[in-house]
Formats: sequence, structure tokens, C-alpha cells
Amino acid sequence: MAAILDAKGLHKSFGAVVAASDITAEVAPDSVVGLIGTNGAGKTTFINMITGYLKPDRGRIHYEGRDITDLAPRDITRLGICRSFQIPQLYSSLSAYENMLIGLSVVMRNHGVGGFFSRGRPDVPGHGRPAEEVADDLLERFGLAEYRDKNAQVLPGGVRKLLDIALTMAAKPKVLLLDEPTSGVSAEEKFSIMEMIMKAVRAEGVTVLFVEHDMEVVSRFAERVLAFYDGRIIADAPPEVALNDREVRRFVVGGELHRLDEKRDGAHA
Ligand SMILES: Nc1ncnc2c1ncn2[C@@H]1O[C@H](COP(=O)(O)OP(=O)(O)OP(=O)(O)O)[C@@H](O)[C@H]1O
Ligand SMILES: [Mg+2]
Repeated sequence: MAAILDAKGLHKSFGAVVAASDITAEVAPDSVVGLIGTNGAGKTTFINMITGYLKPDRGRIHYEGRDITDLAPRDITRLGICRSFQIPQLYSSLSAYENMLIGLSVVMRNHGVGGFFSRGRPDVPGHGRPAEEVADDLLERFGLAEYRDKNAQVLPGGVRKLLDIALTMAAKPKVLLLDEPTSGVSAEEKFSIMEMIMKAVRAEGVTVLFVEHDMEVVSRFAERVLAFYDGRIIADAPPEVALNDREVRRFVVGGELHRLDEKRDGAHA
């Protein structure tokens, strides 16, 4: 099947730091890809280039056969590529429901439909229903109905993460890039959060790329792994192959175990 996303020869430097060096990867539609690599390996840079926040120095990105390399982030979003950030982007003094309404309002404005605050309750593009209904539906699908009227700032970390990802679904993405969807979430909570995200997102056949440091989570949810090291992709294979690759074990998995030890030591300090 033709790739939904096709990155070829991406290169990005920040001064002397090479954050992306000849990054080439094709992503099949309706698939789930895990992005792994230690701190500074280039995972977020890759996401930033796909979503248009950073322009590669060289290389091209095609989405559904169309060259999107030079498009603005907003236009890329409108075509169906959405993202979440490492830190949830929420209005902390507004409720979960109000955050959803604002997210939907932005989507409507991006499509040139009068925002949520305009008269006549126009349908949200792609959803075929007014914003209030879509907001409640998305909260429900992500298991967030009980938090509907709570301010974002009082929500537990894992719930904030879910809300942030529910917000990305406002734009009806075909490709979703999740930058560390379980960061800051306890080890016990990670699996249930990923289950919820995958259930809600995959039901619509959305292609997912997610950054994750926990290799158990990667093995459980990714169909394929892209391993980053020093701005390069050092492995591109199903998890059982990639996580056993010699270079990956040396440069990525080993680094992650070290990172885990540091966290544990930190917790005891
Ligand atoms: N805007 C920027 N300006 C300067 N250097 C940057 C910028 N963005 C990234 N870098 C550098 O590029 C390299 C890759 O960073 P990137 O954020 O892509 O790593 P990452 O794999 O997402 O790491 P982490 O797991 O810590 O989030 C790092 O050395 C980083 O310091
Ligand atoms: Mg990152």
C-alpha cells in the first residue's frame, strides 16, 4: 500500500549539532510506529519537521503523495497531520469541556468556518456536528466525561495527558504524532493511558507515531519501531527485531535502562 507519510533524506542542524542526518522513513496508512532514542537523539526534531514547525535544511516530506515540506504548520494540520507536545498544551484555568470547545473553535477557524462563538451553531468540519456535541463525544471517548467540568489545573497528570490528546482529535487527523504521551505518568498508569489513547484513536483508523522511553510500552503498542541515535535512524523494524538489534541495545535500550536507574536513584534521594 502506498505510504501515507514519506520522509526522504531529511537533514537539520542547529549550529554544530546535527539533529537530523539523512532521515528516511515511509509510514504505511493505518499503522502504529514507535519512535525511540535517548535524550537528544532527534525524535522531537523529526516530529517538528513532519508537522512544519521546523523546516529541514535538506530533504522532502510527502503526505498522501503531496509534497508538504514547504507548507506552514497550520496548513499541514488542515491536511490531517496533528500532534501533541511533550508538555500538555491546556488552558489551566478552564474546564476540560471549555478546553475542548476552544480546540474545536480553532479547527473551525482554520477551515474558515465561523468559530464556535459565531451564531447558528455551525458543524465542525469533518465531524458533521456542532462543537458542543463533538466536545462531549470526544470527552466520552477518552474516558474523560467525569472530568468535564473540572479545571485543567486540578486534573491528575495522566488525565491532563489524555485531554491534550483528545484535543488533537478535534481536527480529525489522519496522522497523529504523539511526543511522549506517557511522560510524567507513573509506570502503572502508562499502560491504561496508552490503551485508552489507542482505542479512541485507532477506532478511526488514524495512523499513529508516538515517542516513548518505556520499552515495554513500545513492544506492546508499536507495530514498528524507528530507533534514533545521534540524529540518525539506526533501526527500522518490528519491535521484536528492533529492540534486539545490537546497536539499539547498545545506544538506546542501554541508555534507557541507565535513565531508569537515574530516576530510581533520584526517587530515593
Ligand atoms: N531549536 C533548537 N535549537 C538548538 N538545538 C536544538 C533545537 N531543537 C533541538 N536541538 C538539539 O537537537 C538535538 C535533537 O533534539 P531533539 O529535541 O530532537 O531530541 P529528542 O530525541 O526529542 O530528545 P528528548 O528525549 O530529550 O525529548 C539535541 O542535541 C538538541 O539539543
Ligand atoms: Mg523530545
